[in-house]
Amino acid sequence: MARITAGIGCSHIPVLGFAHDHKRTQEPIFAPAFAGFDWTREWEKAEKPDVVILVYNDHASAFDMKIIPTFAIGCGERYAPADEGFGPRPVPEVIGHPVLAWHIAQSLVLDEFDMTIINEMTVDHGLTVPMTMMFGDVDAWPVKVIPLAVNVVTYPPPSGNRCWALGEAIARAVESFPEDLNVQVWGTGGMSHQLQGPRAGLINREWDTAFLDRLSGDSDALRHIPHIEYLRETGSEGIEMVMWLIMRGALGQATRELHRHYHVPASNTALGHIVLEPVEQAA
Ligand code: DHB
Ligand code: FE
Repeated sequence: MARITAGIGCSHIPVLGFAHDHKRTQEPIFAPAFAGFDWTREWEKAEKPDVVILVYNDHASAFDMKIIPTFAIGCGERYAPADEGFGPRPVPEVIGHPVLAWHIAQSLVLDEFDMTIINEMTVDHGLTVPMTMMFGDVDAWPVKVIPLAVNVVTYPPPSGNRCWALGEAIARAVESFPEDLNVQVWGTGGMSHQLQGPRAGLINREWDTAFLDRLSGDSDALRHIPHIEYLRETGSEGIEMVMWLIMRGALGQATRELHRHYHVPASNTALGHIVLEPVEQAA
């Protein structure tokens, strides 16, 4: 039986991909941002997940205003890094797991989550930067990836509650897959995050910290945060954090925090990262 063994939350700051690709991670401006992932890179070497269900958002790379899927699942064999204006990132191609992905797609649709199914697309910094942070400089990614794209770019994004419920449905889907696979779910994007306008660069450490705190334990209070609170407290792109709730929902009733990293400044947004494991509940 496939098992969800851990969840990771992680910002997907494009300049950290740039720093990695240009071998500048040890420069004073970037070093502290990367240092907070050392623990996770070592931990991943021991965990050896087979598959990551990587919840992220596309930033007008694979999709644009012509088509805006709310929730989309990648069922393809492989995904090339997108060209976001400076050529594709020189990182490995992302290899999918079509058999598990189609199983999850079927399970979700029958569970009344009407997913868009994608067989061909490129993947942008939303997906490739977390891969770099977690696995570093490698010739081939050590895991298969099922991309799960969420619209958080064009209003209306899904509610936090719907995202959490999708995570719960993903857990049911994974549990019903017969092959013995070690599966992680990652939620990416965030944290404090206002890229433009008079409030650009807004950082709300207190709110971000409270969000990170409430990801562990058995409270599901985070699922009820309204969109307006993300926008007001953390900036317009702070809404990316609803994607972390898909990861959290997939971990079940209770979780334990294994590692956390919060750092400002890496860009003009806050860098957040957390590693969680599900806690078995007594019957
Ligand atoms: C930044 C973060 C993002 O999530 C993004 O999509 C673009 C830029 C940033 O921190 O600069
Ligand atoms: Fe983003």
